[in-house]
Amino acid sequence: MKVVAVLGSPRQNSNSSALANRILAKAREQGAQTASYELNSLDYKGCQACYACKLGSECCVLTDDLAVVLDAVAQADVLLIASPVYCTDVTAQLKGFIDRLFSFLVPDYISRRKKSRFLQNKKLIFILTQGHRDPEQFADILPRYLSIMKWFGFSPAWSLRGVGVYAEGEVLQRSELLQGADRIAAELFA
Ligand SMILES: Cc1cc2nc3c(=O)[nH]c(=O)nc-3n(C[C@H](O)[C@H](O)[C@H](O)COP(=O)(O)O)c2cc1C
Repeated sequence: MKVVAVLGSPRQNSNSSALANRILAKAREQGAQTASYELNSLDYKGCQACYACKLGSECCVLTDDLAVVLDAVAQADVLLIASPVYCTDVTAQLKGFIDRLFSFLVPDYISRRKKSRFLQNKKLIFILTQGHRDPEQFADILPRYLSIMKWFGFSPAWSLRGVGVYAEGEVLQRSELLQGADRIAAELFA
């Protein structure tokens, strides 16, 4: 099994990345091949709306640092994405990546039931951390993204929300979140 993680936090000691890394470590213990990309260290643009991926090209034609990431995701069995909540949404780094996943849609995706280019769906793990302690705040983010990710060909999905985690590395003191990550890893290999 190939698991590719795409990390959206700019922090060194990131909460969302710590949860992602915990799942990657468990996946490796189970014999999975893993790769991880920190978006903040890459040089890339958001989608340029050239529509080349709908007019003949099978993939995104931009040749920046995200090309390698998109290729790795296309080869993966599981995509793990992780982001903090920034100003009510995922980080700009992650949103730029998600927009480029538009290239995974077939040209006539609007009229097609199966909209993804992938022959078989890929599994998705989505991790989100937020400073706000109220779980009702920003509860809309995951369902919104899980629905477009399904169009792109990622389903079934597991999600984990770290609510009320603020300082760097704080998530490591939250046993229920660490257990949540372990549970996802276990279910992935069940
Ligand atoms: C620019 C910025 C915007 C933020 N916006 C929100 C927000 O809208 N809601 C919230 O609950 N937390 C917000 N936070 C707090 C982060 O979501 C929180 O610290 C999170 O644990 C960071 O995850 P990370 O360590 O993986 O980067 C914001 C933090 C920054 C730096």
